[in-house]
Amino acid sequence: MRTPVIAGNWKLFKTIGEATGMVNELKPLVAGTSGVEIVVAPVFTALNRVAEALSGSNVSLAAQDCYWEEEGAFTGEVAPKLLVDAGCSHVIIGHSERRQYFGETDDTVNKKAKAAIAAGLTAIVCVGETLAEREADKTFTVIEAQLKGGLAGFTAAMLAQTIIAYEPVWAIGTGKTASDDQAQEVHAFIRNLLATMFGQSVADDIRILYGGSVKPDNVKGLMSQNDIDGALVGGASLKADSFAAIANFAV
Ligand code: 13P
Repeated sequence: MRTPVIAGNWKLFKTIGEATGMVNELKPLVAGTSGVEIVVAPVFTALNRVAEALSGSNVSLAAQDCYWEEEGAFTGEVAPKLLVDAGCSHVIIGHSERRQYFGETDDTVNKKAKAAIAAGLTAIVCVGETLAEREADKTFTVIEAQLKGGLAGFTAAMLAQTIIAYEPVWAIGTGKTASDDQAQEVHAFIRNLLATMFGQSVADDIRILYGGSVKPDNVKGLMSQNDIDGALVGGASLKADSFAAIANFAV
C-alpha cells in the first residue's frame, strides 16, 4: 500500500566528481529494483550534475535543506524553486544536525516544508529525540511537539507531498541503531498522532522512514515492522554497494 522509500543523505561529503561517480556506480546496481523509491541527497553544488547523471534512471534527487522565500536579499540561501530548477524532486527539512548546529526550529521547519511543497517538491521532514530526552522519558512529548510545530497549518493535500523521517539523535552516526521494536513503537506513535491531526486515511498513506545507523545487515528487520516504510541513510549511503544493498532489502 505504501511504496517504501530508501533515501541516502550524503551530508557534507563528496565533490561533484565523487558524487557523479557514485551514482554512475549505483544505477546498474538498482536498475532492476522495483516497488522502492530510491533517493540520493548530495551537497548543493553537486545537485545539477548528479541530476544529469541520474536522468532516465529510477533514482530521484533530493537537496539537504532549502529556504522558504522564493527570492530576495537572502545571501547564501537557496529557494525551493531553484532546487526544482537543478533537478530535485525531494528536499530534506529539519535534519537533527540542522536543528543542533544551525538553529533550525519547528517554526523554520514549518516554513521551509510549506515553501518546498508549494514549489512542487516532496518534503522529507525529520524528527527525533536526543539521548537525554529518551532517558528522561520525553521521547513522545518531543516527537509530538516537532510534528505539531513542523506540520502546523498543513492540509491533507500537503501531507501527500510529505514524508516523515524518524531519526533518534542517539542513533545517528553512532552505530547504535534503535532496535526494531524501539523504532516501530515511535513510528506507530507518529502514525497515530497524524491520524488524530489529519485523519486516518492521510495517516495510512504517509511514509515514515527510520534513520540512524541503517546498514545492509539491519535494514530487513527494520523494514519488516508494520509502520516503518523506508530508511534515511547516512554513512552507509556513501558507497554504491552498501546503499544498493539497502535499497534491495526485499531481494
Ligand atoms: P547514519 O546512517 O550515518 O547514522 O546517519 C543517519 C542520518 O542522519 C541520515 O539523515
